[in-house]
Amino acid sequence: MENIEHALLDVKSLSKSFENVQAVDNLSFHIRKGEIYGLLGPNGAGKTTTIKLILGLLEADAGDISVLGLNPETDEVEIKNRIGYVSEEPLIYKSLTPKELFNFIASIRKLDGEKVSKKLAEYLEGLSAIEYYERLISTLSRGNKQKVQIIAAILHDPEILIMDEPLAGLDAKSVRVVKEIIELHTKRGGSVLFSTHIMEIAEDICDRIGIINNGKLVAEGDFEELRQRANAIGDDVDLEDIFLKLTDQDESINGIIEKLRTTML
Ligand SMILES: Nc1ncnc2c1ncn2[C@@H]1O[C@H](COP(=O)(O)OP(=O)(O)OP(=O)(O)O)[C@@H](O)[C@H]1O
Ligand SMILES: [Mg+2]
Repeated sequence: MENIEHALLDVKSLSKSFENVQAVDNLSFHIRKGEIYGLLGPNGAGKTTTIKLILGLLEADAGDISVLGLNPETDEVEIKNRIGYVSEEPLIYKSLTPKELFNFIASIRKLDGEKVSKKLAEYLEGLSAIEYYERLISTLSRGNKQKVQIIAAILHDPEILIMDEPLAGLDAKSVRVVKEIIELHTKRGGSVLFSTHIMEIAEDICDRIGIINNGKLVAEGDFEELRQRANAIGDDVDLEDIFLKLTDQDESINGIIEKLRTTML
């Protein structure tokens, strides 16, 4: 059995259903200090539900979650203070400007004025956010809202970054900068839970990947381990194939394309 003493985040036998959907089904995984863990799965696999359970935004039907040794159902406030969260839907504080939002965060989190200003200036420059610093968040483009949300999540140097599809909608330069921020965060000993439905992104960014489908963990490992699993199936099997196979999407694709051709052409 693997030693998970240093797990900053530990999820055990987690389940959650909505009416007739089993969104998360007996899911277990853990994230170590300094690690970027990717939850990779197709639309509707249960990634966002898992993240909301970890944050205490939803109540689990069964299972245990430990975040920095704390329980999300009872220690929601302390967990929020020690983690940074980038949600799937960009930002709540739409009636503020980024400047007002960051000032608000610095004041409620009691961040040191000088240190935070210096960091903020770097983040704003890195993500080209200065030009819309004093515009209402509600008027920003989707990608720019996302950048504001990312800065808001990292400003207090959280121990764990929980990011639900954080690169969605970002331009190439911002993707590079956000990847670098994630990397530097782990170099300081922080951990990351990163969700995506895109395999190349998981490969590029994550140290370890859990493939999730219908709320269940169907494979887990570093990229090399997953690749070996693909090789074991056959010579021509690449990781995309194994991802599609493990998430029951392999056989249907050709049929779908064929039917679309008939309908559309
Ligand atoms: N509030 C809700 N009420 C009913 N069903 C829900 C609710 N939230 C999620 N679900 C269902 O739970 C399942 C998992 O959804 P979830 O949002 O966790 O998937 P996801 O992996 O994040 O997908 P995506 O890649 O599209 O973001 C889906 O079948 C979804 O329809
Ligand atoms: Mg989602």
